[in-house]
Amino acid sequence: MTVCEYKPGLEGVPAAESSISHVDGLNGVLEYRGISIQELAQRSTFLETSFLLIWGHLPSQGELEEFENEIRSHRRLKYGIRDMMKFFPERSHPMDALQTSASALGLFYARRSLKDPNYIRQAVVRLLAKIPTMVAAFQLMRKGNDPITPNDELDYSANFLYMLTEKVPTPLAAKIFDVCLTIHAEHTINASTFSAMVTASTLTDPYGVIASAVGTLAGPLHGGANEEVLIMLEEIGSVENTRPYIENLIAKKEKIMGFGHRVYKVKDPRATILQELAEKLFSELGSDRYYAIALEVEKVVEEKLASKGIYPNVDFYSGLVYRKLGIPDDLFTPIFAIARVAGWLAHWKEQLEENRIFRPTQIYTGLHDVPYTPIEARDHVETNGHVAVGT
Ligand SMILES: CC(C)(COP(=O)(O)OP(=O)(O)OC[C@H]1O[C@@H](n2cnc3c(N)ncnc32)[C@H](O)[C@@H]1OP(=O)(O)O)[C@@H](O)C(=O)NCCC(=O)NCCS
Repeated sequence: MTVCEYKPGLEGVPAAESSISHVDGLNGVLEYRGISIQELAQRSTFLETSFLLIWGHLPSQGELEEFENEIRSHRRLKYGIRDMMKFFPERSHPMDALQTSASALGLFYARRSLKDPNYIRQAVVRLLAKIPTMVAAFQLMRKGNDPITPNDELDYSANFLYMLTEKVPTPLAAKIFDVCLTIHAEHTINASTFSAMVTASTLTDPYGVIASAVGTLAGPLHGGANEEVLIMLEEIGSVENTRPYIENLIAKKEKIMGFGHRVYKVKDPRATILQELAEKLFSELGSDRYYAIALEVEKVVEEKLASKGIYPNVDFYSGLVYRKLGIPDDLFTPIFAIARVAGWLAHWKEQLEENRIFRPTQIYTGLHDVPYTPIEARDHVETNGHVAVGT
């Protein structure tokens, strides 16, 4: 067996062959099943895009209607799940609540053979249908309210905003949210997708797969930079303050939130789409004073850091859009999860088609042939208040 060079974080190491999505970071290209993200954002819907990602082709009219109807009829949560969620501490982070609820679906829906296409279909439908309901239910429950029952008159995105805010959104707000879900649905093998694939490769149940991916997405190095962007814009406070603030960050070699990407070395195509959505939203719902600051931040950062390939990423404008839609800041990452469930499920299904359990190797850096020292013969050394055991 060839010994490979160790790459921290597996950077650049192919972990799978996949036909789900493609990123070309030098040219700012993102494609789902070969279709550009711009085209999907403009012409598709989140559910149609989910179908495309999971089943590999755009659905026919009949397939789409059937899929949408199935999802609509599975949006409700069983009483048992709602009752369980009522006991979640109201101060718990919505991502922890979501991970627990996603995992609990496995308690309520019995495991069946992963070779059964009906089971695969049902799991896809249940997860896409119920994850938004669980996010919205936790939001209302932590405020001490009863969750709202899904509204069958509303489509996927409008229904989610309705369950979350207790108001039917305007068609533009619902459309914009749907585009946000579409452009966050998939992004090759990132940390949470890899987590889903590793868990899937053990042939465990789909709810466990999605719960592990939600847990991975919850960390601040993955989801969550959009919350940090808003904090930064608030700290800057005014357009005039922007240049000195950014120059100071650069001088201190600190990262500017919402900029830079491991793969994209030009403006992330999703950031361009989100910026256009933000402008549409502000023209309908009124402007946002932080948008002018954001534009100035982009200008200054481009001037200073474009030579290093640092441009806005997907997180730079998404927080402004979500806040304008009335979404609390700590739900930004759960919303990312609602969208990314589609990509996780696509990779789960692809993994099952040609599965081999993930079992990488390691480069051992420890000792060998160490004798066992009886406890009374061990040295105890005080270090920083902790007792370390010497050998
Ligand atoms: C996304 C991110 C983690 C990618 O990291 P990475 O590929 O490991 O890139 P590195 O951290 O090695 O950065 C490469 C260079 O660009 C600079 N850089 C990267 N992102 C930067 C940022 N947001 N602001 C300022 N400089 C940045 C680094 O300082 C480094 O400069 P150097 O070569 O002079 O040391 C990183 O850009 C970042 O932390 N961005 C801010 C957080 C964020 O928006 N995350 C959401 C990602 S979708």
